[in-house]
Amino acid sequence: MKKRLFIQTFGCQMNVHDSEQMAALMGQHGYETVADAADADLILVNTCSIREKAAQKIMSQLGRYRSIKRSRPETIIGVGGCLAQHLGEDLVTRNPHVDLVFGTHNLHRLPEMVIRIEQSGEKVIETSLAPVVPSLGIRVAPRENAISAFVTIMQGCNNYCAYCVVPFLRGPETSRPGEDILNEIKMLVDGGIREVTLLGQNVNSYGHTLSPRTSFPELLRGVGRIDGLERIRFTTSHPKDLSDDLVRCFGEIRSLCEHIHLPAQSGSDRILRAMNRGYTSEEYRNRVKCLREQCPEIAVTSDMIVGFPGETNEDFQRTLDLMETIRFDNLFSFKYSERKGTAAVHFPDPVPETEKAERLETLQARQEGHTLEKNRDLEGRLVEVLVEGRSKNSPDDMSGRTRTNRIVNFTASADTVRKTVPVRIERAFLHSLRGKIEHLGGVC
Ligand code: SAH
Ligand code: SF4
Ligand code: F3S
Repeated sequence: MKKRLFIQTFGCQMNVHDSEQMAALMGQHGYETVADAADADLILVNTCSIREKAAQKIMSQLGRYRSIKRSRPETIIGVGGCLAQHLGEDLVTRNPHVDLVFGTHNLHRLPEMVIRIEQSGEKVIETSLAPVVPSLGIRVAPRENAISAFVTIMQGCNNYCAYCVVPFLRGPETSRPGEDILNEIKMLVDGGIREVTLLGQNVNSYGHTLSPRTSFPELLRGVGRIDGLERIRFTTSHPKDLSDDLVRCFGEIRSLCEHIHLPAQSGSDRILRAMNRGYTSEEYRNRVKCLREQCPEIAVTSDMIVGFPGETNEDFQRTLDLMETIRFDNLFSFKYSERKGTAAVHFPDPVPETEKAERLETLQARQEGHTLEKNRDLEGRLVEVLVEGRSKNSPDDMSGRTRTNRIVNFTASADTVRKTVPVRIERAFLHSLRGKIEHLGGVC
């Protein structure tokens, strides 16, 4: 009989993909994935440590698994990912019901570690970092009827932004050989995948560690030549490494979607310098200007941090100014969270938490206005939608995404799923669009 695996994932898309790799690896060792932790023989929690709040949420979730362990002591509980890397043994000290802790570079050894626990009943803690991340090449066969898939093209980060814990948890930047990536994408397309998202902490510096050296635009052109691949997305881009060649790709590669996630973090040059971001707000504006000149339709989304140590009201106003000039299609915004080991821990921070919270509220309200305005610009327009499946809210509706990554709901039959259809946008909301399908068949 198959053993049952339950995986709970926190954090970024990279973690989502790592969880898929965990399921694939354990699948080869007789485990099938189940939807309820209470039914599982093996519970894996894939964690994130980007902000203190994320870490706390995970710790309280781990606490909830104590009762499962109490009623079924043979259940193995494993914790992987960035918080596991961060806390190591401390995780087990604080959660004695946890059997396994594995770091971000130890995922490939998961089956072996689980077998060791099954056989010996001993706890396993493995958080060593390797020079080349062995899990980079683990392939995940497409899920049944899946339309899109993640493909990791690089791991780690060398940027050491002053607030960020990622370089300490994911190790230095390593790129995966291009041929490996292209072969994996061909395998995915043969398995029915229509859209891939290329993943890395800073995809723009892809290939610099490879020999011979290559570049992200070169990789994109290779991916763009794969027959049957409808859409290419990527995340995340660092503004300091966004080359003119990458900008040109948006005019050249048909399957490259008109969307870029380009985290700005702040609009104040003083704060950007303190953050060690390597660009000014003017340079950021220029990069977006070039992208829009090359591709007027492009959606630009971003990340912003408020309340970085020493951020004055004046600095915060510069962030609002940047938002006004760029008018982001969407923005993920966060209150600064102090992370152990990062440079910003040592920066003086006289700004009270309440003021930071107020700034975050102001920024988010401003962005909601911009997002809605951008969505309303699409009312009356015809957009290309890749249909993903039934809408969650209405059984008669189908749901899909535009090339600019907006969700569109529309009434249509289920046989539109997996197809690219033209939809006329009738109404725009904050988080989605509503439209009417125009006709089926050869669009764009
Ligand atoms: N590699 C990506 C993003 C990594 S983390 C990049 O460089 O853009 C995702 C986002 O979390 C970051 O863009 C940043 O906005 C936010 N973030 C990272 N560390 C943070 C911290 N200590 N406090 C608040 N937000 C943080
Ligand atoms: Fe963190 Fe900066 Fe690296 Fe992004 S580029 S992962 S924010 S250190
Ligand atoms: Fe979190 Fe690690 Fe991703 S800290 S955001 S899961 S790289």
